[in-house]
Amino acid sequence: MKKVFATPTDLAFAAAQSFQALALEAITARGRFDVALAGGSTPKIIYQTLTTFELPWQQIHIFWGDERCVPPTDARSNYLMVQQALLEKILIPPANVHRMQGELEPAMAVQAYQQQLPIKQFDLIHLGLGTDGHTASLFPASPLEISDSVLSTFPTPNLEPQVPRISLGFSVINAARVKQIFVTGENKRPIFERLGNNEDLPIARVINAEWWFDQAAAID
Ligand code: 6PG
Repeated sequence: MKKVFATPTDLAFAAAQSFQALALEAITARGRFDVALAGGSTPKIIYQTLTTFELPWQQIHIFWGDERCVPPTDARSNYLMVQQALLEKILIPPANVHRMQGELEPAMAVQAYQQQLPIKQFDLIHLGLGTDGHTASLFPASPLEISDSVLSTFPTPNLEPQVPRISLGFSVINAARVKQIFVTGENKRPIFERLGNNEDLPIARVINAEWWFDQAAAID
């Protein structure tokens, strides 16, 4: 499914509405809503918009799709981006916030996060798209075959920040009930030419996802 919005602001409002609808549906059906948020810059406006929505945060569990191996106070931290955009503005039980511990050695952080994933599947996973076709922290050079639930990777040489990463693996991503990939900005367009040539880019391994574009990124 593909949705195109005039601006990132319009996309963010619709994404927040979808988040609210999916959360209420999951909580009615299963008593909780498990969501993995995306990092990078694209989703920040979505998380800022979510602060203006009525949500049962007591029953919502927040995870991350990936994290940079830096402390949670570091400006490069995906946790810090979500904390500043959303978490510090809502009343959510600390036990519902499942941070990837970027301050740990990558192998330790992977092991710690695997233990935090008690659920069978996420209700929703937010994903971004890097200019090299990566998503979460699954890069073209990452071990794309293995089906680890959580793994550590290292970014493509020209991609900042050049620090080790922790990422959910494709097995967990593709098991999610709903996957929403957010793509904004003209700089993302060239990726679709490569995908059109059937390049086996990481994003191409995410199946049955919803694609959300703004006008600048959308191609006809
Ligand atoms: C990260 C993200 C990454 C991001 C893409 C797009 O840790 O960097 O999780 O997967 O989604 O790199 O980043 P932008 O949204 O900043 O373009």
